[in-house]
Amino acid sequence: MRALTCTRFDQPETLSVTEHPTPTPGPGEILLRVHAASVNYPDALMVMGQYQVRPPLPFTPGAEAAGIIEAVGKGVTHLTVGQRAAAFTGTGAFATHLIAPAAATLPLPDTLEFGVAATLPLAYGTVMHALIDRGQLRAGETLLVLGAAGGVGLAAVMIGKALGARVIAAASTDEKLALARAHGADETINYATTDLKDALKTLAGKAGVDVILDPVGDRWAESAFRAIAWGGRYLVVGFAGGEIPKLPLNLPLLKGASVVGVFWGEYARRDPRGNARHLQQLATWVTEGTITPLISARYPLEDAPRALRDLLERRVTGKVILTP
Ligand SMILES: NC(=O)c1ccc[n+]([C@@H]2O[C@H](COP(=O)([O-])OP(=O)(O)OC[C@H]3O[C@@H](n4cnc5c(N)ncnc54)[C@H](OP(=O)(O)O)[C@@H]3O)[C@@H](O)[C@H]2O)c1
Repeated sequence: MRALTCTRFDQPETLSVTEHPTPTPGPGEILLRVHAASVNYPDALMVMGQYQVRPPLPFTPGAEAAGIIEAVGKGVTHLTVGQRAAAFTGTGAFATHLIAPAAATLPLPDTLEFGVAATLPLAYGTVMHALIDRGQLRAGETLLVLGAAGGVGLAAVMIGKALGARVIAAASTDEKLALARAHGADETINYATTDLKDALKTLAGKAGVDVILDPVGDRWAESAFRAIAWGGRYLVVGFAGGEIPKLPLNLPLLKGASVVGVFWGEYARRDPRGNARHLQQLATWVTEGTITPLISARYPLEDAPRALRDLLERRVTGKVILTP
């Protein structure tokens, strides 16, 4: 098998593809022939040693993949050889083959293309957990999404609409905002050229924004929070903007609002059934056309450094996948 290998925590350009013996699945595991692996921001952080998890070196990055099961280990009952499946493993997916725990592997309907299936668990799963479990978003409420054309952001625009919310999308370029609109956003704000706080005052008025989904952090967090509604929920998803923001605690007090942490990986580990329900709902929405995940680029394994660099330099819209 071929795998992208990280031998030291460094820039993505230091990664290379190397040959390894194809592994045999142990008890409770499966071997997946990878047809598509999804590239996520945490992959880039992990390669550089800046993620909360630092895997032992050397390791193969890549959190999730979709493909065909080539072998199953002892004790695996719900999966069979030849079946189409998606798996979330945290690492190892940027390779031609992936060993995955059967418990973290879901069979795929024939209607779901491998590329789309590979993008669902992390970005879309995070948004389902964020908006439904943590944010309690209700139909008719207003949702603000920051970084609204990124992997998590564009998923939040689509899922927010599917849940019946009025969606305000905020991003750094007009092209990104046009994309958010094309995927359902009702209103848009360019936070690179306009003041986010003022723009939100105009769009959300006195009532404010019920739920804010923030994968960006940095200087936008406080401006966004100042527009939150009474009883609003601010979903802390990530800090792609760089700085982890600090919030004056009088702001949640004055609005009776909540700052709510979202950690999908830990949630999926603690509540695999809830997570599987979310993924099934997503597969149904994709099949029905309620949401249309955007894959903006497909690269061979060798081009993984380029894909990670594009993410780090804010050039990616929607999702990028590798097709080993
Ligand atoms: N909590 C969880 O469970 C969880 C799960 C998945 C991901 N995450 C986190 O969520 C964040 C987004 O992940 P993603 O995969 O959606 O990434 P992404 O596709 O790269 O999107 C991130 C967005 O952040 C904005 N951004 C602002 N400043 C940036 C900068 N200096 N560098 C890069 N992007 C910048 C960009 O939008 P504009 O150009 O429009 O500003 C970009 O579209 C990451 O921090 C990731 O670690 C958390």
